[in-house]
Amino acid sequence: MKIIEVKNYQEMSQTAAKYIINKVKNSPKLTLGLATGGTPTGVYQQLIEDYKQNHTSYAHVTSFNLDEYIGLAKDNPNSYYHYMVENLFKHINIAPEHTHIPSGMNLDLQAVCNEYESKILEQGGIDLQLLGIGSNGHIGFNEPGTSFQAKTHVVDLAPSTREANARYFNKIEEVPTQAITMGIQTIFKSKEILLLISGKEKQDAMAKLLNGDVTESFPASILKQHPNATVIADEKALLGVK
Ligand code: F6R
Repeated sequence: MKIIEVKNYQEMSQTAAKYIINKVKNSPKLTLGLATGGTPTGVYQQLIEDYKQNHTSYAHVTSFNLDEYIGLAKDNPNSYYHYMVENLFKHINIAPEHTHIPSGMNLDLQAVCNEYESKILEQGGIDLQLLGIGSNGHIGFNEPGTSFQAKTHVVDLAPSTREANARYFNKIEEVPTQAITMGIQTIFKSKEILLLISGKEKQDAMAKLLNGDVTESFPASILKQHPNATVIADEKALLGVK
């Protein structure tokens, strides 16, 4: 696992965006794994800025998002579908039919999970997966204790995850209790992984990632065994390690 140290959130976002743009420009076909939450919004802003200025085309890009809340419709402002459209998709020329986010509104959630896995496989797997990290070490919504073998599945969100994400809702009771997430195995199969870590709230997670063992009780630790994983971390996140 390679670590790139950067000054702050802005520099983390610029570094990641530059890397992604380079991949987009130099790949005849590219499958991106995308994340939501506070961490990647700066990257998406940079991609949009670059699209406006340099017209980098996303016509050949397919995307798969990590996760979606169960019970939130696409037009719900807190759904990850809505987040992706507003924060990235509507601003660039990616074809809507090339973007994938698991549906948390289907009655047959197992079918949604199976279909999601099949679509990723049909696409030849994920070339570059962008990740954030939860303060409890979750990646996607794979909470501590999730098997490293898990494929796309339904999860119960940890209380700490619901509390952290309550900032986007009117009150914590509105935060869904479940989500669909790509599994750790699904994420691990990505050819390349870019994990972004910023801010003092992530100091403990950063320290555990670097100093701790590879264990299912800290899901992100599996990335230490990935052949091509890079962490871009800022000074605040790294304070606990130094
Ligand atoms: C989002 C996701 C999560 C977040 C994590 C950190 O699609 O899968 O793992 O990356 O919860 O969230 P933020 O970036 O809001 O701190």
